[in-house]
Amino acid sequence: MTGINTSSHTGDPLLDFDVAKVKEDFPILNQTVNGHPLVYLDNAATSQKPQSVIDALVGYYSSDNSNVHRGVHTLSQRATDHYEEARSKIRRFINADDDREIIYVRGTTEGINLVAQTYGRENIQEGDEIIISTMEHHSNIVPWQMLCQERGAILKVAPIDDSGELLLDEYEALITSRTKLVSMVHVSNALGSIIPAKRVVEIAHAHGVPVLLDGAQAVAHAKVDVQDLDCDFYVFSGHKLYGPTGIGILYGKADLLEAMPPYQGGGEMIRSVTFEKTLYNVLPHKFEAGTPNIAGSIGLGAAVDYVDALGMERIGAYESGLLEYGTELLSRISSLKIIGTAQEKSGILSFVMDGIHPHDIGTILDAEGIAIRTGHHCAQPLMDRFGIPATARASLAFYNTKEDLDALAKAIDRVIEVFS
Ligand code: ALA
Repeated sequence: MTGINTSSHTGDPLLDFDVAKVKEDFPILNQTVNGHPLVYLDNAATSQKPQSVIDALVGYYSSDNSNVHRGVHTLSQRATDHYEEARSKIRRFINADDDREIIYVRGTTEGINLVAQTYGRENIQEGDEIIISTMEHHSNIVPWQMLCQERGAILKVAPIDDSGELLLDEYEALITSRTKLVSMVHVSNALGSIIPAKRVVEIAHAHGVPVLLDGAQAVAHAKVDVQDLDCDFYVFSGHKLYGPTGIGILYGKADLLEAMPPYQGGGEMIRSVTFEKTLYNVLPHKFEAGTPNIAGSIGLGAAVDYVDALGMERIGAYESGLLEYGTELLSRISSLKIIGTAQEKSGILSFVMDGIHPHDIGTILDAEGIAIRTGHHCAQPLMDRFGIPATARASLAFYNTKEDLDALAKAIDRVIEVFS
């Protein structure tokens, strides 16, 4: 497995990336759906898994399955070693300073809820304010609404322009002495817009406000460096990073995590328990109550190894080339409108078509073997901002090809034919 054509660089990222070889690592892609070769363009919903991740899961259950941090026996020690090694790999992958700052959670949603229920409950009082943006996924809206309701706090929303770019001045103008947290999406799942995350953090910090970044759609597509971003919390899901479902990461700066109360009570998160008093475990275990998703963590470690070997920069360059190609193809279709045209954009092609419901587009594309997502993408307020109920969304990964996008454009012609 390399997929990197180092022998003869052409300067064209689409040519320098040996996508045919990369695709061989993903067994699921080698199948037909409804009589057509599968074209998987629903990577923002979940990505496919390379054989090495599948092997890591099978290997764990075949050889090492045991509980972690609980046994003196060999299997338990092996499982614990692999579980903690995966944490270190993930820490290096996002360039965090310390393994104690890497908390295993179920996914982005749980990571945000953890921060809302611990940091939020501890620090947000009546009349305080939390700032999000118009582009948030429901998972970065609802936990804050719940907290605001409980505390009598106020949720403020930083606007975007018609291309889907965050309006930085308007964002800064929302910050007041009552602002206690900014929680913002790094890359929009519905538009692909990449926010100027470093600037967003700088602005908040200048006002003494900490920042959480929702990296669910970012980590798989570009190099994320939490120290460079200087964000206070960063959350992402393993399954969008070519790893298993049910595992994700909450990164938090150690001093903030130290000061936060635990999220859930139970085994593993304690140092000692009596009926009168419980002393909590050290980081990161304080936030990992109960038997964790051991196989998931190990699988995520294998996924990180895989993308590291390909190189995040090379992945980003290849996907940008694909996005440009796909944007050009879809722009030629006069009855189609791309929603989300920010200058800084990740591999998302969200679109609407004159007089055709996105669900109908998705159904016809599926008959052609093409998997996309249709609907509001768990971002209903964003759909409201654009005055539409839904979009059809093709989302890219590094195993996609120009031919996949040609097939998409051809199938869209078929949609037009059916509805004409
Ligand atoms: N948040 C995922 C998506 O955008 C499920 O499809």
